[in-house]
Amino acid sequence: MGVQAVPADYKRFIEKKVNKMLRLQQRLDTKYEQADDRELVDIITQSKKTLGEKIVILGHHYQRDEIIQFADKTGDSLALSRYAAGQDSASHVVFCGVEFMAEAADILTGDHQKVILPDLGAGCSMADMADIDSVELAWKELSQLTDMDSVIPVTYINSSAAIKNFVGRHNGAVCTSSNAGSIIRWALGLDLKQDIKGSELVREAKQQGKKVFFFPDQHLAINTAWQMGFSTSDNVLYDPDLEFGGITKENIDTASFILWKGHCSVHQRFTVSQIQYFRNLHKDAIVMAHPECSNEVIKAADIVGSTDAIIRAVASAPKGSHIGIATEVHLVNRLANSYTDRHIECLDPILCPCATMNRIDLPHLAWIMENLTNGVVHNQIVVDEIIKEGARIALDRMLRIV
Ligand code: 13P
Ligand code: SF4
Repeated sequence: MGVQAVPADYKRFIEKKVNKMLRLQQRLDTKYEQADDRELVDIITQSKKTLGEKIVILGHHYQRDEIIQFADKTGDSLALSRYAAGQDSASHVVFCGVEFMAEAADILTGDHQKVILPDLGAGCSMADMADIDSVELAWKELSQLTDMDSVIPVTYINSSAAIKNFVGRHNGAVCTSSNAGSIIRWALGLDLKQDIKGSELVREAKQQGKKVFFFPDQHLAINTAWQMGFSTSDNVLYDPDLEFGGITKENIDTASFILWKGHCSVHQRFTVSQIQYFRNLHKDAIVMAHPECSNEVIKAADIVGSTDAIIRAVASAPKGSHIGIATEVHLVNRLANSYTDRHIECLDPILCPCATMNRIDLPHLAWIMENLTNGVVHNQIVVDEIIKEGARIALDRMLRIV
């Protein structure tokens, strides 16, 4: 019997299914690719008006200005998660950010709400550095080196829903760059109401005997631990490319932090020499850095915080001051354009944007919005129910703690 040709519509059906599973971005209709910015802005404005309260657009601070202008709410990862969790009237949430943010929104919103990511290519290279299979293997390996009952997993929100599920099911929590300190104190078994820091905090934490397994960003963990009073000898680095992560029983025994070997390539571009150069140019320099930067950069900065915290710090900085910022360039440029009475610069001379955040642009937003007015939902982010369950525990725990 000869092999039958696969019918074209069946092929298309399978292609759509595979794309959905792998979350691959389909090519936009030529209408959106060829339209100029004015036409795209008109499509989005008109669609937004038509959709009314059915739709809410969320915009992370790293988004382009042309996208931010349409956001009903802008914020850092924590603010946007809280907003998504607290609003249940809109049936569609268009998340202008990256995949892990849209997944968190899907987990935190109700079943009657659909979360949409305008470009499925908007991932996060740091989140991709910790895949669930490697994390599960690491957990097994570490259980041969230490008592896992005293290890609390904490995942940065910049991680897949599968990792959040793992963390929730192992009694851990999610954290963001603005609450990592509180979540780590909680994980170490410290009383959040007790106002201790430095050597007293470290002593108390050691007495509790807990260890934090933190992923995927080693730098956020190193910087938070350092701010609390821990030293680098309290950390061990788990490298997923090495057997047992390159960790031995001896070095895990004394450690309080097991850190996943992950990083943000945008924030690793910032260096101490950029800061020194800026300080040499300006006597009144104020340096602000996001905690995903290296510990050397954080030590050389004046103010360290999440994107929201950086925005607040700029707003309260003296007029005329020179502010050098170590974070993504779209946010820095927006601040420079909003506070023209201060001199604001990105410390990285190459001005490298977050390539994935940058994928959300006018053609993709126009395509999503106009289709929604016709009842067509593209790019819905759906987290599997089984994964949602554990991930929700980890996210809810974070929202309850801080
Ligand atoms: P924030 O939570 O500070 O906005 O950071 C998100 C992020 O991805 C930084 O790279
Ligand atoms: Fe991920 Fe870094 Fe981009 Fe943030 S800036 S979304 S951590 S790649």
